[in-house]
Amino acid sequence: MTIYGQFCVIIDEEHAFLLEKIQEMETTLDFSVVVAYFKDHFEQEEKIMKDSGYPQYDGHKTEHLNMFVRLISMEARSGVEHLRELLKDILEQHVHTHDMLLLKHLKQQATT
Ligand SMILES: [Fe+2]
Repeated sequence: MTIYGQFCVIIDEEHAFLLEKIQEMETTLDFSVVVAYFKDHFEQEEKIMKDSGYPQYDGHKTEHLNMFVRLISMEARSGVEHLRELLKDILEQHVHTHDMLLLKHLKQQATT
């Protein structure tokens, strides 16, 4: 599978998986598990960015780090309902901005 194909799978399947896990969260312990899934997911994306020579690698990686720090800081002061909404918002906003730019880059690479 091409890097573009791999990322399409990540966009479709992993983001759906993350959303499913967010929906299933019932306790703050579940929140910690979901944050660990996010971390794995970010690492996979970062590998794809690196392998494809993505010029926005540093910015996208910094955005992942910022999201991770934000998730960790939310844990101590929020109820599960609130955490669920925040996680969904953070994920959707990221996918529709940074991940879409990466997808565009990989698609361009695949067709040239
Ligand atoms: Fe990302």
